[in-house]
Amino acid sequence: MDDPLEELKRAAAERAVDEYVESGMVVGLGTGSTAAHAVRRIGALISAGELEDVRGVPTSARIAALAREEGIPLVTLSEARPLFTIDGADEIGPGLALIKGRGGALLREKIVASACDGLVVIADETKLVESLGVGSLPVEIEPFGYEITLEDLSSLGCEPTLRLQGAGSQTGDANHPFVTDGNHYTADCLFPGGIPDPAALEEDIKSIPGALECGLFVGLARAAVVARGGAETEILPASPG
Ligand code: A5P
Repeated sequence: MDDPLEELKRAAAERAVDEYVESGMVVGLGTGSTAAHAVRRIGALISAGELEDVRGVPTSARIAALAREEGIPLVTLSEARPLFTIDGADEIGPGLALIKGRGGALLREKIVASACDGLVVIADETKLVESLGVGSLPVEIEPFGYEITLEDLSSLGCEPTLRLQGAGSQTGDANHPFVTDGNHYTADCLFPGGIPDPAALEEDIKSIPGALECGLFVGLARAAVVARGGAETEILPASPG
């Protein structure tokens, strides 16, 4: 693998799988390029006979397809609760508060992470930030009346942009809104002053009827496995000490 960033993502994912996944476990499978490395690692350990009876709860159709290719048996949340979920993040802030969802799967990622005993975050070091809100915060929204929802979001002090399909369009129309697995739209919300109080903002966003869920994951991560230059990995606990 030549891309150094991809190498860091792989290193973090593999360390997390080796550290936390054991035979007999049900594990939540996150979505994104880093989570894909974790799925490949679990698949490789299953085919090598080093993991047995591991089952995954996928957070998107994409990761479900990859997990099937890798020979990981899948279950739904109604069949089994995962012990924890392994997932990437877009930003990792103080106390392991996260921004997730730039990969388009935040609602299902949050449902799965909330259904189990927390989230093991896997990331390269570029995801570490001093305070959340360096980039945009994704919010999954209901298509019905989405223009009103965008206005409501902007009243919270952000600049919301409706995410479009763009290159790699699902329908052949790059200007069509991006549609999630749950048939929702996504608003990418840039807060010019950052997000100093993620928990309060999460509450404010939840009060908007058309906002189904936002990409702020506060109090859900129990550890983060972060890979730095040289592919050395470090495990950061949610609360130091
Ligand atoms: C998917 O909706 C996201 O939450 C991803 O986990 C997040 O965007 C990180 O993705 P990468 O691992 O591809 O950077």
